[in-house]
Amino acid sequence: MGHSELHETAKALVAPGKGFLAADESGGTIKKRFDPIGVESTEERRRSYREMLFTTAGAEEYISGVILFDETIRQSASDGTPFPELLASKGVIPGIKVDQGAKPLALSDGETITEGLDGLRGRLEEYRGLGARFAKWRATYSITDELPSDYCIWANAHALARYAALCQEAGIVPIVEPEVLQDGTHTIERSDHVTSRVLDALYTELYDQRVDIFGALLKPNMVLSGYDASDRASQQEVADLTLRCFYKHVPAAVPGIVFLSGGQSDEDATANLNAMNAKGPHPWELSFSYGRALQSAALKAWGGKPENFEAGQRAYYHRAKMNSAACSGTYAPRMEREVVAA
Ligand code: 13P
Repeated sequence: MGHSELHETAKALVAPGKGFLAADESGGTIKKRFDPIGVESTEERRRSYREMLFTTAGAEEYISGVILFDETIRQSASDGTPFPELLASKGVIPGIKVDQGAKPLALSDGETITEGLDGLRGRLEEYRGLGARFAKWRATYSITDELPSDYCIWANAHALARYAALCQEAGIVPIVEPEVLQDGTHTIERSDHVTSRVLDALYTELYDQRVDIFGALLKPNMVLSGYDASDRASQQEVADLTLRCFYKHVPAAVPGIVFLSGGQSDEDATANLNAMNAKGPHPWELSFSYGRALQSAALKAWGGKPENFEAGQRAYYHRAKMNSAACSGTYAPRMEREVVAA
């Protein structure tokens, strides 16, 4: 894939009104999602759950790409169609999580570095053969009064850029995901400060490592007060500070910013995205790449029972539709009550 093909894929991934389904939960994370609904995490249950999501009729109106996990990209629907082929047949672009998780950062005080660079060139080639046209790599940073350290910020930025360069060389659009975790009691101003430092380091490293910014997407956190803060910022403040932060630190050449939901409630994740887009137009598309905020209602409705497949699909379709509306700033909470046929 030459540069123009990378650009076209990146643009298609952030087509107006469309966003990502992040269905790339690792073995440990999907178990954490299944445990509260009393579903044992077997390979067949994971496959069947993903099949429910991927075969939801009409979801492709709102979903441009699906992020898969290594196990899932090798699985198939009940009729034998490999998942990447099934998604592509609906016009949905398959992608793959390629990082191997956040591990303790040496000589640091509880911070993490994301691993997965060793052998990545070969893995990317294999994933492209399996149908992946984009990839994802997530780094995480915790906020305290002292953290994150410059060391953690720059080490992760360097790794994110190495990953992104390898992706582009392989003809795969990289999604760079620097997630500043919003747990804790910090103020929204502190979140703004940390997110700014993280984004500055990331775009410096991407530039230095020759990554084509027109062919890479950003998947960041929103700028929020800590979930346990006593006085939490309003939706308008979240929209204003998040936008101000991104206008200052993200190049206009970036085709799209696709937010993670990061533990916000389904409706908060939608309403905050909507509030930002209501203030548009912006230099980049502002969309979603939600895991929990697209799946939690569907998981509950499904409950691991094949007879609840359609109920799970209706719940997923509804959230995809709400988030699509948020991409154009036309979402309203009353739409949550509209009955939607899947
Ligand atoms: P959440 O939307 O649940 O934060 O997940 C997005 C994701 O892909 C995390 O890496």
